[in-house]
Amino acid sequence: MMALRSLRPEDGEKIQRIAKNIFSSPSQWPSFLFLQAPSTRGWVVEENDSLLGYAIGSIVLDEAELSWIGVLPQFRRQGLGKKLLQAFIQGVQKEGAKQVFLEVRADNGPAIALYDSFGFERIALRRGYYGDADAIVMRLAIGPLRQESPERSRPG
Ligand SMILES: CC(C)(COP(=O)(O)OP(=O)(O)OC[C@H]1O[C@@H](n2cnc3c(N)ncnc32)[C@H](O)[C@@H]1OP(=O)(O)O)[C@@H](O)C(=O)NCCC(=O)NCCS
Repeated sequence: MMALRSLRPEDGEKIQRIAKNIFSSPSQWPSFLFLQAPSTRGWVVEENDSLLGYAIGSIVLDEAELSWIGVLPQFRRQGLGKKLLQAFIQGVQKEGAKQVFLEVRADNGPAIALYDSFGFERIALRRGYYGDADAIVMRLAIGPLRQESPERSRPG
């Protein structure tokens, strides 16, 4: 069964294993160090003990950054990227993040389409950031989560 769950510190090996099938350059694989950091937040989709995709980033005070999102090629266009991004955004929102930032290669059509569909705005262009491509810096403003607790919704 396919399941979405939060990243665990011991997921490092599995993340590294699938990252190789998602990003060609080792510099784009989430490092063990990053995965263990206290500010790291992440979500994975798992099926029968193997990972199919992940969204990993960090939160500092009220700002979050999405560092990597990836889905194994054979599982793309099935809504997994959307689920992972949504989980990341909702998770950091619960912790008080007001904005989510990310950088994306200007030639990465699928990723930009995904971010656009969530309402991310382009806020800067970093020319030659990736050597062979520019980086687009994107930002999503997220409001505070509405508290639906009984104390607040029922006065008295
Ligand atoms: C970007 C990525 C994570 C999307 O994952 P996914 O599971 O295929 O995405 P979804 O199926 O949830 O797609 C959600 C929406 O994103 C957009 N999208 C995703 N792939 C797209 C593509 N190839 N072309 C156009 N739009 C695309 C669409 O709006 C799509 O909604 P729709 O299917 O209803 O049209 C995936 O393509 C991937 O792993 N790419 C390689 C890694 C990468 O480049 N990551 C980003 C930089 S860190």
